[in-house]
Amino acid sequence: HKGNHEHYMQKEIHEQPESLTTTMRGRLIRGGTCKAKTVLLGGLKDHLKTIRRSWRIVFIGCGTSYNAALAARPILEKLSGILVTMEIASDLLDRQGPMYREDTAVFVSQSGETADTLHALEYALQNAALCVGITNTVGSAIARKTHCGVHINAGAEIGVASTKAYTSQIVVMAMLALAIGGDAISNQARREAIIDCLFDLPNKVRDMLKLDQEMKDLAKLLIAEQSLLMFGRGYNYATALERSLKVKEVALMHSEGILAGEMKHGPLALVDESLPIVVIATRDACFSKQQSVIQQLHARKGRLIVMCSSGDATAVSRQKYSGSAKTWHKGSLKCQKLQKVHLSATFQKKWIT
Ligand code: UD1
Ligand code: F6R
Repeated sequence: HKGNHEHYMQKEIHEQPESLTTTMRGRLIRGGTCKAKTVLLGGLKDHLKTIRRSWRIVFIGCGTSYNAALAARPILEKLSGILVTMEIASDLLDRQGPMYREDTAVFVSQSGETADTLHALEYALQNAALCVGITNTVGSAIARKTHCGVHINAGAEIGVASTKAYTSQIVVMAMLALAIGGDAISNQARREAIIDCLFDLPNKVRDMLKLDQEMKDLAKLLIAEQSLLMFGRGYNYATALERSLKVKEVALMHSEGILAGEMKHGPLALVDESLPIVVIATRDACFSKQQSVIQQLHARKGRLIVMCSSGDATAVSRQKYSGSAKTWHKGSLKCQKLQKVHLSATFQKKWIT
């Protein structure tokens, strides 16, 4: 039931602290009698050795599920040392791309029934790859046909746009990376830091959701726009793609997620005083590069909304508004308001770093 919420999507967005907790329950273990921090994925324990011996791990999915895999790829690469590639299910089928028995193919799907992903699974099975599912729906076709897998346990997702499944999928793939990476001494510090961050994640999400009203105010001022660009890099390239997908399908507005590292190879031509641009600049390995992206966008008088980690408002905004703020949309009441929201819209966002 929707409870106090206006629609299921809103309910599911607000459920994330609980759905993330359920995703990790019984799988992420720390403290107590067992001091070491460990990961236990029941559905994979008999297959980890085979996965570790694979030539590559290939993530396959569509839409939001693909984006979730893209967000998790760097962690898996770092912890496993195995080549990790990405396939959009329909494109793999269109190309009849290479797939070998030495591959581990990971199928990511909330519903477990998406036709393209299911066909790609059949293709991978024919090519004798080890097929792993990451699904939300117990008993779904993908859960049944994969050799093994992990249920994300996010609870039923009724809203058409995938929301809470996205964050649970990323968490499952981070746990998958920890499980495949094993307990190599060289990874110990990184493993423990990731596990601590995962335990902390539901609280971080709870804090984020307190910004709901501020986001609604900002959204009201953007809804009349033609287009909205999202710039991210590193882990947050996936965030940029996923957000622009949501803007398209929920707000019915054109939006494009852009890899910030590609900005000067074409997209910079779009930047002017009117097109709103969201830049994700959290405290991760890409922070200083994003600071310089912000400066370059500012030099072009870009209309920026910067999403940054807690406490970084100054680090990402000092140069941003001086000078050009007054030149945006002179005159109309709506646009004066827009400026005001811009000035207060630098808010806190903390992702898995
Ligand atoms: C399982 C039980 C859970 C129980 C726990 C106790 C189910 C669905 N889950 O959770 O209720 O509390 O043991 O130890 O009964 N699988 C696939 N493809 C997929 C997803 C899963 O083949 O896409 C397979 C797994 O390899 C596994 C089984 O389905 O054999 C259940 O997976 P999962 O629910 O993730 O396992 P547990 O977390 O151990
Ligand atoms: C976006 C969305 C779609 C799905 C895609 C894959 O909000 O819902 O892009 O993510 O159709 O669906 P699943 O994950 O069920 O395979």
